[in-house]
Amino acid sequence: MTTDLRSWLESVRSLGLLRELRDADWDVEIGAITDINAKKNKYTLLFDQIKGYPDGFRLVTGALLDSKRVALTLDLTPTLNDLELVRTIKDRAKSAAGNMDGYSAKYVDHAPVFENRAEGNKINMLKFPAPKWFEYDGGRYLGTADAIITRDPETGWINVGAYRMMLQDETTMSILIEAPRHARLMIRKYWDAGQPCPVAISFGHHPLIHMFAGMEVPPGVSEFTYAGAVRKRSYEVVKGPMTGLPIPADSELAIEGYIVNEFRQEGPFGEFIGYYGGGTTQSATVKVAAVYHRDKPIILGTCSGRPPHDYTYFRCPMRAALIWDILETAGIQGVQGVWCHEAGYSRAFTVVSIKQLFGGHARMAGHVACQCRPGAVSGRYVVVVDDDIDPSNLDDVVWAMCSRSDPATGIDVIAESLGTPLDPIVDHAPDKDILEYTSSRGIIFATKPYRKLIRNEFPRVVEASKELREKTVRRWKELQD
Ligand SMILES: Cc1cc2nc3c(=O)[nH]c(=O)nc-3n(C[C@H](O)[C@H](O)[C@H](O)COP(=O)(O)O)c2cc1C
Repeated sequence: MTTDLRSWLESVRSLGLLRELRDADWDVEIGAITDINAKKNKYTLLFDQIKGYPDGFRLVTGALLDSKRVALTLDLTPTLNDLELVRTIKDRAKSAAGNMDGYSAKYVDHAPVFENRAEGNKINMLKFPAPKWFEYDGGRYLGTADAIITRDPETGWINVGAYRMMLQDETTMSILIEAPRHARLMIRKYWDAGQPCPVAISFGHHPLIHMFAGMEVPPGVSEFTYAGAVRKRSYEVVKGPMTGLPIPADSELAIEGYIVNEFRQEGPFGEFIGYYGGGTTQSATVKVAAVYHRDKPIILGTCSGRPPHDYTYFRCPMRAALIWDILETAGIQGVQGVWCHEAGYSRAFTVVSIKQLFGGHARMAGHVACQCRPGAVSGRYVVVVDDDIDPSNLDDVVWAMCSRSDPATGIDVIAESLGTPLDPIVDHAPDKDILEYTSSRGIIFATKPYRKLIRNEFPRVVEASKELREKTVRRWKELQD
């Protein structure tokens, strides 16, 4: 059981997955190291003595690059494979559904994040390690794996989201919040009432809150609560002295301030789809009113880019679990597994495996998976496969697509679905609002035709039977692991 980022890092060390690096440059070198690592050795990286920053002001990347570290973060056994992880996350969320409040954030009176405080002209956000991650980025991003905490002014609902934040100067930062995000709706309510939106932001914390801040948790439920329900242990928070907003009690570096209705140039930024699709934006401004940090704070950072990148992995089991939960809640029976692939940056290539129970069953599953919120945001393709196909195995999935789908009848195209300006194939126009973007979806039904399935007319798969395989492997040690 890990209680903060520091104890979590020690557990990662004991798994043999931590590497410490000294003297790296914030100016694109940390980004290049992080990206190469995400595609190759997949260590968790702890950077210290970062050029130009005080010794001991550290930065972690590569936090959640495999199932072991996702499981560790959720207090689960690290031996779970990808699909077992998905099922466990889904089952835990489902079993807590009627009792989410039992896992509400737990307020504590003291937190080490208040070891150092600054307000007014003492604030200097530039002293914390903030990489320029890639060569064509437009600035230094302190906020990537951050947790942005806002309160709905009407209902009191506390939202936690991960939205990128670029440094402007000592006391201001730009924040990019896309169209369907919950914080955007809350901020709009404050602005419509002529008020700035109070905000608390943590830049270093236990990776648990990073995992849930960066996912489409259902509306109306706080990510603190949802994370606690899935981990089966409430998340501890401390009340922000200025805004009263909850700040992770394990935070290493946090601010309180206001999101104001002022727009500044932000970006470009190497985005999660793998392109500079969004270019330079005019983004809202965060004015920092107070900053708190632990002695020798550790910033949690990450960068995106061509997938697989530093945060594609953890969103695969998380998104798959959210989609599976919604499928079941929508009454879709027979779901055997769901997987969202890293090559589709966890959003654009989702595979649902079902045991077909009736004609049209695959269509129901495909359309719900495609249009529900965690499946719809930046989505592109959904593939529905039979229960003999492992949805996380691309060879299996492509084989099913090639051999079981008929392109003339087995692909549904849904035009004008939820879009994003970051999509490299959408058209931009100077007067186009962020809320106007749409794009189409393809749902591929790579399932055996139901009429052949029930008549036992679909050809037998060519492979040794389970019994023959087991007997053969027992006899031939060359085939054993
Ligand atoms: C590392 C990381 C960075 C992200 N950056 C952004 C961002 O800059 N802007 C944005 O709108 N969404 C970003 N997202 C996606 C949102 O965090 C995600 O859609 C989440 O569901 C938003 O919270 P909400 O559902 O409460 O709105 C990012 C996610 C991750 C994991």
